[in-house]
Amino acid sequence: MFALMEDVSFSYSVGTPFETKALDQVNLAIDKGESIGIVGRTGCGKSTLIQHLNGLLIPERGRVVVDGVDIRTKGTALKEVRKKVGLVFQYPEYQIFEETVFKEIAFGPVNLGVTEEELTRRVRWAMEVVGLDFDLLAGRSPFELSGGQMRRVAIASILSMKPEMLVLDEPTAGLDPEGKRLIFSRLVDLRKHEGLTLVIVSHSMEDLVTIAERIIVMDQGKIVLDGAIRDIFSQPGAITNFGVRPPITTQLAFALQERGFAVNQRLLTPEELAEEIYQKIIIQKDKKGKNQCGEKV
Ligand SMILES: Nc1ncnc2c1ncn2[C@@H]1O[C@H](COP(=O)(O)OP(=O)(O)OP(=O)(O)O)[C@@H](O)[C@H]1O
Ligand SMILES: [Mg+2]
Repeated sequence: MFALMEDVSFSYSVGTPFETKALDQVNLAIDKGESIGIVGRTGCGKSTLIQHLNGLLIPERGRVVVDGVDIRTKGTALKEVRKKVGLVFQYPEYQIFEETVFKEIAFGPVNLGVTEEELTRRVRWAMEVVGLDFDLLAGRSPFELSGGQMRRVAIASILSMKPEMLVLDEPTAGLDPEGKRLIFSRLVDLRKHEGLTLVIVSHSMEDLVTIAERIIVMDQGKIVLDGAIRDIFSQPGAITNFGVRPPITTQLAFALQERGFAVNQRLLTPEELAEEIYQKIIIQKDKKGKNQCGEKV
């Protein structure tokens, strides 16, 4: 077990008229190497939850333990947790402050005491992971870059600390589709080859299909569903109650089923859907000259 949340509750602005309960008795266990998507309607507590994973927020009640360390622990132990859990915020480009891309990405490792030689290697590596050209961009000001490139710099500046768990809050908002595909495929590789644990908050179920294996649905500060991605998305009735629409492929599979086609509903990717349509509709049609509803097609 890598991270554990036990009965965690958290409120903002405690004792004021603006007091808001953001987490309500949350229980969550994350194993090393897992890839988890966190979903739910706006304001349900996703960002609040993930900020507990590196001790940025401290639970009001309950406890959070990361790699054996209670995040209430002060000093070196908490520093170790922050080293292990890298958090990329919802709008990370607002947190960029250094004058060059190199310095921005080197900031974390410098604070960790990484040597000069290793530093350049790390920055180069992190830029390569997010698809930024070191020779072209390392010396540039991050503020001259496009929104998508700034987002990549922000992600690289956390990756450069070589976290064991990477937590991304809405990483793809503002990223171009190509950049998104590239970064996600690199993260999938890092997970596969280096055991990186991934936690990704997203409003895009299509994005999560490409990277997550487990989905956590939140509503009003609680975890209301938690399971394998295929199990969660194949019950659209349950998730739509919590403001989450299944990926478009799953929606299409359901629509086809409603029209009488015996299409598997546990489909996630466009490739799976295409294959299913081919097998269950097109081949059937070729055999009979009719589709499964008996209509001439
Ligand atoms: N800094 C803050 N001060 C006061 N209330 C806050 C603060 N941050 C969040 N909240 C409130 O806490 C609740 C949970 O917010 P949170 O940002 O965790 O939700 P979220 O699921 O991340 O939403 P979104 O999808 O919009 O990012 C909401 O009611 C929100 O208004
Ligand atoms: Mg949020």
